Formats: sequence, C-alpha cells, structure tokens
Amino acid sequence: MLEESVDLVLPERALGSAATIVDATFGAGGHTKAILSRQPSGRVIALDADPAAFERAVELSSRYPGRLTAVHANFADLDEALDELGVDGVDGILYDLGLSSIQLADAERGFSFAGDEPLDMRLDPTTGDPTAADLLNTLSERQLADLIHGSGDERFARRIARQIVTRRARSPLRKTSDLVAAILSALPRNASRGKIHPATRTFQALRMAVNHDVERLERSLAAAARRLRPGARAVVISYHSGEDRSVKRVFRRWEHDGLANVITRKPMTPTVEETKANPRSRSAKLRAAERLSAETQSQPEIMEDRGWR
Ligand SMILES: C[S@@+](CC[C@H](N)C(=O)[O-])C[C@H]1O[C@@H](n2cnc3c(N)ncnc32)[C@H](O)[C@@H]1O
Repeated sequence: MLEESVDLVLPERALGSAATIVDATFGAGGHTKAILSRQPSGRVIALDADPAAFERAVELSSRYPGRLTAVHANFADLDEALDELGVDGVDGILYDLGLSSIQLADAERGFSFAGDEPLDMRLDPTTGDPTAADLLNTLSERQLADLIHGSGDERFARRIARQIVTRRARSPLRKTSDLVAAILSALPRNASRGKIHPATRTFQALRMAVNHDVERLERSLAAAARRLRPGARAVVISYHSGEDRSVKRVFRRWEHDGLANVITRKPMTPTVEETKANPRSRSAKLRAAERLSAETQSQPEIMEDRGWR
C-alpha cells in the first residue's frame, strides 16, 4: 500500500527534480520516509493534527536537514499552513486517512473499544472542541441515531441511541467501556456479530463526527486543487465508505471543471496478502487525480483496479 501510493504521488518524471510533496497525515512517518528516500534532494511538508505525531515529525526532521518540515495543523488548514511557510505550489499531496496504530494503542485517547479509556476521540486534544463524551451526553436521541447510522452504517443505530439516552439519564457516559456496554445491550440477542466487533461502527461514526472528518477532507481537497502544480497529483487512501464517496465526488468535479484527470477510474484496493498481513487495511481504497494546466490536453495513463500488487 505504501509503495503504490508513493509511486503515484511521485511519478517517474518528478524524480530528481527536488519535488515538494505534502504528507497531509504524517502519523508514524512511513510515507514521509519513503518519499524522502525516493528523491534525495526533494522536500516533504508533513502535517498532522495530533500533537504526538507532530513531535515525531519534528524529531525525524533532524535526520533530514532542510528537507522535512513538520507542521502541527489540521489538513483542513492546508492553505494557511503553506502560506505560513511561504510555499505557493506543491508537486503532490498524499492523504492516508484515519488513525495510526499508535493512536489506537494510546490508552488516553478513547479511540479503541478494547480498553477502558476516557471518551475523548479528538485528534488534537489541545483544542477546546467537544469530545466524544460531550456528544454522547448532549445530543438528542434522534441526533445520535442519525450520527451512528449516517457515518457508521450501523443498522441498529436507533436501538443504540436509545440505550445511550437511557443510560446517561442514570449517569453520564465517561469511559469507552460505558459506550461498549450500551452498544452490546442494544443489540438483539440473535443479531449476527459478523467479523468485526459490534462496537466498531459506532466508534468510527463518533470519531468522524468529533473530528468533522468528511468536511475537513473536502476543505483540504479544495485547497489542494489550488496548490497542486500542473502534473502534480493528489493521492487519497481512505478507510470509510463516506470518505471514499466524498473523494470520488470531488475528483469527478475536478475532472468536470477541467482541473484534473482522475487516474484511478476505480479505487485501488489492497491485495489478499496485504489484508492478511494487516487486517486494518481491508477497507482501504486509494484514489488519485492529476492536476492539469489550462493548456494540458494529454490524458495520463489510467490505472485499472488491479489491486496493490
Ligand atoms: C493512518 S495514519 C497515517 C500513517 C502514515 N501514513 C504513516 O505512514 O505512518 C493517519 C494520521 O493522520 C492524522 N490525521 C487524520 N485526520 C487529520 C486531519 N484532518 N488533519 C491532520 N492530520 C490528520 C492522524 O492524526 C494520524 O496520525
């Protein structure tokens, strides 16, 4: 997954040209390191909303003097971040959405339903934004049901919302275990448990609502369209159908407006081997678009859905 996305964001012709690439989701730095090692004189501007990820990027930047710039920012604020650095145009931008395994393992963040953590779920806990607990304890039953159904594709959303409201009347939900208990008690006895944990969809929906994931992605892509130089590519790996739909819609609009060509007619998906090695990649979809200049007539090569082989 990593190699293919780097191949796409850094096409052959950009090699050796000291390209400036934005890694909009630094995480643990896997993509950033791969991009830097591919083009020894190029530069990466690495963003992450998570202060801990930003610290990791700062630490890594000392290994690449002048070539890695770490920025603590939400990618929704891409324009502002680039303005502050005095950078006008970039040669590619990569988004690897969602959470890093480091965030999932952090017992203070509330992203994982495996432990007993405070229900926070903000990518950036230093903001005063509402936490997952704030939403769970203040939204109406109807709003909760819509949220869990809309972003979580959870068919028992109404029952889960009812349980949350019943339980919080006794005592506010504070820990991930409170939410897991509400979810489990809302499911009908004979409900098929499927392959994933019954809390997966509700947790994902809440995290996306807390962090305004889809809205911020769309805002960032709008900025990316302005910043990508002709021939530069936007590459997005998403793990949620709502995010993927949104990327597809934005890229189609770019194409319709003559701004870009879509390179991935169908999203690229991981191979069976890859999902075996990394089960969290099972829902990954990769889409890429190439910025056109007003004069550009040629069509880039269209990649078929051949899996990440
Ligand atoms: C899947 S991880 C990225 C992993 C990374 N590509 C690597 O190779 O290590 C996603 C990262 O994106 C960050 N992130 C998610 N949404 C963001 C946003 N709106 N703005 C900035 N960073 C975001 C998360 O904090 C997380 O660190």
